[in-house]
Amino acid sequence: MAQKDSTADVAKLTKAQAKAQVRRLAEEIAEHDRLYYQEDAPLISDADYDAMRLRLETIEARFPELRSAESPTVKVGAAALEKFGKVRHRVPMLSLSNAFAVEEVEEFIARVKRFLKLSAEASVEFTAEPKIDGLSISLRYDDGVLVEAATRGDGFEGEKVTANVRTIDNVPERLKGRDIPETIDIRGEIYMQQEDFLRLNAAQEKAGGRTFANPRNAAAGSLRQLDPKITAARPLKFYAYTWGVAKPLPADTQYGVCQAFRRWGLPVNELMIVSADVAQLLAHYQKIEQERARLGFDIDGVVYKVNRLDYQERLGFISRAPRWGLAHKFTAIKAMTILEGIEIQVGRTGALTPVARLKPVTVGGVVVQNATLHNEDEIQRKDVRIGDTVILQRAGDVIPQILGVVPEQRPAKARPYRFPDKCPACGSHAVREINPNTGKLDAVRRCTGGLICPAQRVERLRHFVSRHAFDIEGLGEKIIQEFFADDLLQSPPDIFTLEERDRKSVKRLMAREGWGETSARNLFNAINARRTVPLDRFIYALGIRHVGETTARSLARAYDSAKDFLSQMKAAAKERESQAFQLLTKIEGIGTIVGSAVAEFFAEEHNVDVVEQLLKHIEVRPLERVAASSPVSGKTVVFTGALEQMTRDEAKAMAEQLGAKVAGSVSKKTDIVVAGPGAGSKLKDAQKHGVEVIDETEWLTRIGRT
Ligand code: IVH
Repeated sequence: MAQKDSTADVAKLTKAQAKAQVRRLAEEIAEHDRLYYQEDAPLISDADYDAMRLRLETIEARFPELRSAESPTVKVGAAALEKFGKVRHRVPMLSLSNAFAVEEVEEFIARVKRFLKLSAEASVEFTAEPKIDGLSISLRYDDGVLVEAATRGDGFEGEKVTANVRTIDNVPERLKGRDIPETIDIRGEIYMQQEDFLRLNAAQEKAGGRTFANPRNAAAGSLRQLDPKITAARPLKFYAYTWGVAKPLPADTQYGVCQAFRRWGLPVNELMIVSADVAQLLAHYQKIEQERARLGFDIDGVVYKVNRLDYQERLGFISRAPRWGLAHKFTAIKAMTILEGIEIQVGRTGALTPVARLKPVTVGGVVVQNATLHNEDEIQRKDVRIGDTVILQRAGDVIPQILGVVPEQRPAKARPYRFPDKCPACGSHAVREINPNTGKLDAVRRCTGGLICPAQRVERLRHFVSRHAFDIEGLGEKIIQEFFADDLLQSPPDIFTLEERDRKSVKRLMAREGWGETSARNLFNAINARRTVPLDRFIYALGIRHVGETTARSLARAYDSAKDFLSQMKAAAKERESQAFQLLTKIEGIGTIVGSAVAEFFAEEHNVDVVEQLLKHIEVRPLERVAASSPVSGKTVVFTGALEQMTRDEAKAMAEQLGAKVAGSVSKKTDIVVAGPGAGSKLKDAQKHGVEVIDETEWLTRIGRT
């Protein structure tokens, strides 16, 4: 998989190649970290991100001299490991043995009786309740107050996620009632309702972020967020069903303790029964299985537990599972139906996803008409053809899967499916790229018509006005959505004709609901303030694949003006053998993959058109050439503490302009630390490494700005 391949050729790298890659990977990882941690809007999958890090680590391991103090493998890697503190469970969190067949359940009951030296006819009560498909959690309440929450981890030691768990609505901060134990670990499952999961995925997709495969993953991903605010925004829920330490125990049966949980204000699943009759337990299993589709959350079986706690005590554990409990799993529900068509959906980031349109069929109580086919390789691998009879499976997941086809039932005229190479939403080319980090062909085919594709327009507009692009204040996502729906904004040039069109319009902006004269004026002013932009921001704003801020800056430095850039890109797009394309791929930080993405963008006439339109309304400032020699050229500078005469971004831009390199942390390679009030650890690091420390005024003097 991606992770393995990402390191495949590291052994063959020359030092120069390794150096260039380390730089590029470090920059990209930093950018993805920022998107993930600060904007909660990751652009790439976790697997691709991990592959990128692994590649960087592998290269650094081979060439340790290339590892700098700023490397994300040093910085974020450590932070990620220490993301959550560790909690040693006072009683281990173990798992359950599984059973699928009725005979296995009968054998479990018989085994319990044998172990307790009871006759086969003896009456032993069991509880039966749904097995919730989420992630287990242990909540420690001391004197009824929630003091700590930990994930299961390896069963002995988990991660401390207290702040995040506190954001879950149905986890009480304080237990209520008179018989609250001095200390108790309440254990149960954190999960996400199917509806909430679908809504979250839709929102993630809209924000261009990663989506989750199922509610369980979504719950786990949401709980393990560094920022509890993100967890708080995710609709997680909790069910309590067991305990670790409990001093004193509130009852002497499993059922009784769960009743106490309920009295204390903890959520306990309603579908729990107690019975000594195996037929009744199995009937309950069937009832739960029938209700499964209507529960609103995923379950994957029924759990039976010996009711009497003294029996549980005697039965104890075998390896990592209790002898007193059993998970009776549901078998996946399968059905057959006809594949009537394959529809290609275009996501907000341009990804083409094939969706199977099915002859409606009921699978486990739910009518299924659509199923995901994931991507084109999957269709090919399974050789799924329109008209085929397909086998569907709902394994408790919300989205059914297509397991395969029934070849004997294939209509004679069914032809292998040809995945479109044009975007169904806008007609632009849809391409599969080589992932620059793994060197592998991406599974996803993407539309290249970003700026004109209706499926992507809102997302592109949002990017265009975002902080590091045109930075137009007051043009947030909601307003873009509204303006887009009302046909006021379709593509970036429209932003700059908005005021003029508004003046001639009968339905003035200031007359819109929620708007007034001032707010309309403010928006126009904000737009007008950006009629002049630097070339790097302009390029970044176009939203070309793989062109982040750093790449945009390298491109901007390489061309004299926006016009020069455009004509060179047109030439590069026309002919890969052209000098223009060769030049493009020689720019520092840009290889053939990124270069191809840029060329592909400009090969689309619509995109060129948008750029040309834009240039009619705005002025693009070329970047000043990097000074050949300045007092700080070639020096590595770190800014720390508050700056009083300029913003951090300005200081950075100015330093880079003068040929200095601005780093985020201090190492022995740092030449100058510019420290302002409030400087902390970086100042100490500077002293440790004997790095020169100056203040802001001295810095300005040195660079000749005073
Ligand atoms: S009782 C000693 N009850 O299933 C373990 N577990 O496969 C006692 N689970 O780790 C666990 N619903 O995460 C129990 N009603 C339920 C459950 C349940 C889901 C999970 C739990 C456990 C896993 C074992």
